[in-house]
Amino acid sequence: MHCCHADFALTEGSDRGFTVGMPTFTFGSGVLAEAGEQARELGLKRVALFTDPRLGRGEHVARVRSSLEASGVDAGVYDSVKIEPDDASFQDAARFAADGKFDGFVSVGGGSVIDTCKAANLYSTQPADFMAYVNAPIGEGRRVPGPVKPHIACPTTSGTGSETTGIAIFTLRAMNAKTGIISRRLTPTIALVDPDVTRSLPSAAVAATGFDCMSHALESITARAFPRRLNPAKGVVRPVSQGANPFSDMLAAQSLELVGRYLERAVRDASDTEARTEMMYAAMLSGIAFNAAGCHLPHGLSYAVSGLTKRWHVAGYPEGASLVPHGMAVVLNNPSVWRHTARASPDRHLHCARCLGADTRDARPEDGGEALAARVVALMRATGMPNGLMALGFDESHVDALATGAEPQYRVIRNAPVDIGRDELRTLFRSAMKYW
Ligand SMILES: NC(=O)c1ccc[n+]([C@@H]2O[C@H](COP(=O)([O-])OP(=O)(O)OC[C@H]3O[C@@H](n4cnc5c(N)ncnc54)[C@H](O)[C@@H]3O)[C@@H](O)[C@H]2O)c1
Ligand SMILES: [Fe+2]
Repeated sequence: MHCCHADFALTEGSDRGFTVGMPTFTFGSGVLAEAGEQARELGLKRVALFTDPRLGRGEHVARVRSSLEASGVDAGVYDSVKIEPDDASFQDAARFAADGKFDGFVSVGGGSVIDTCKAANLYSTQPADFMAYVNAPIGEGRRVPGPVKPHIACPTTSGTGSETTGIAIFTLRAMNAKTGIISRRLTPTIALVDPDVTRSLPSAAVAATGFDCMSHALESITARAFPRRLNPAKGVVRPVSQGANPFSDMLAAQSLELVGRYLERAVRDASDTEARTEMMYAAMLSGIAFNAAGCHLPHGLSYAVSGLTKRWHVAGYPEGASLVPHGMAVVLNNPSVWRHTARASPDRHLHCARCLGADTRDARPEDGGEALAARVVALMRATGMPNGLMALGFDESHVDALATGAEPQYRVIRNAPVDIGRDELRTLFRSAMKYW
């Protein structure tokens, strides 16, 4: 689909353009060892290095630390990042950043670590009340008034694409709702994407983060197209995530082809370097795509699911409190959503199914939703995902609470290709209870 495709036809008063942001990225085996040179090139002398407790003891962080040391860059380490961060953990990280008088930031970890590092950089560089920069209507949604410090992001999971985005996601405990901070200024300066790190990633995390990557791509392609938004008063206030556009379409399609071909292999076998490398690349492509296009229903609904699940634990994730991995919460709603949204753009849904590897030779456009849902279900079954929301303990009696839990997410839900109200939310959750 190209930039003069009918979906992108401009209308009276619509935005005339789209903006794509991303860091300077280096992708390849062993590139973590370039962290020190990159930091020195940026003129950094003393950086804050963010990671989580498990990774803090491991080889990836050690590699980055020795690279910094070899380049004469001093590092203060914060290794207490909370997996699935919240407002308290973001603020704790920001205090560390403010106290340490750092001139730059390095993050080594999954989305939880990279997002925490973005927030710590923001609040220590452009101090404000915590809710000031948080997305409206939950927070004030205030624009970040100036630049933040350089950030070198080193992802260790193959899913969130956070190393490419201007987004930091956290749970606001007072509402038990996930929300975030979005600004182009939060985009890391440099991303070092080293697929070797995924050798140590537990297979359940490869599966969950792989579905996060898949959903970023599917949501980018099916999001309301960018000319369906009003022209912004000034180009600089154009939102980070603007709706489907030709550039995100291209990256997302490529990402889906990789997910369709390599996800199962990457989950099954940690020594399958080809599959794990391709999933790392797919995650980065999807990150650039959804940062520009925006997510919609699967992410919006996922936050209610993760917030309301009472008891759930997945091998490879921290023990203790119940935790539904982000990508798992996202994929559980996927088939239900595609069956519902396909009527808005059947050909786009069919295109997605084809990219993911479904046999669509005899399919008509109106089969797009079912073809896509069926392909996602097949991937879920092949990678050990739970069979719908019932597997997590939900049933019909929870449909209202789930719909209420999704309502704070209208900022992303509005990006869906069809209008969604409370009744539709209930229908979507009801259809996500059991898939096979
Ligand atoms: N900012 C964005 O653009 C964006 C996009 C999607 C999701 N997110 C957010 O990212 C968070 C989820 O991040 P995630 O899925 O990357 O996982 P994560 O950072 O939460 O980590 C999950 C688990 O995997 C472990 N782990 C990470 N890398 C490892 C490795 N190489 N080897 C062994 N163990 C490893 C961690 O220690 C942790 O226990 C959520 O809060 C989600 O909302 C952010
Ligand atoms: Fe995500």
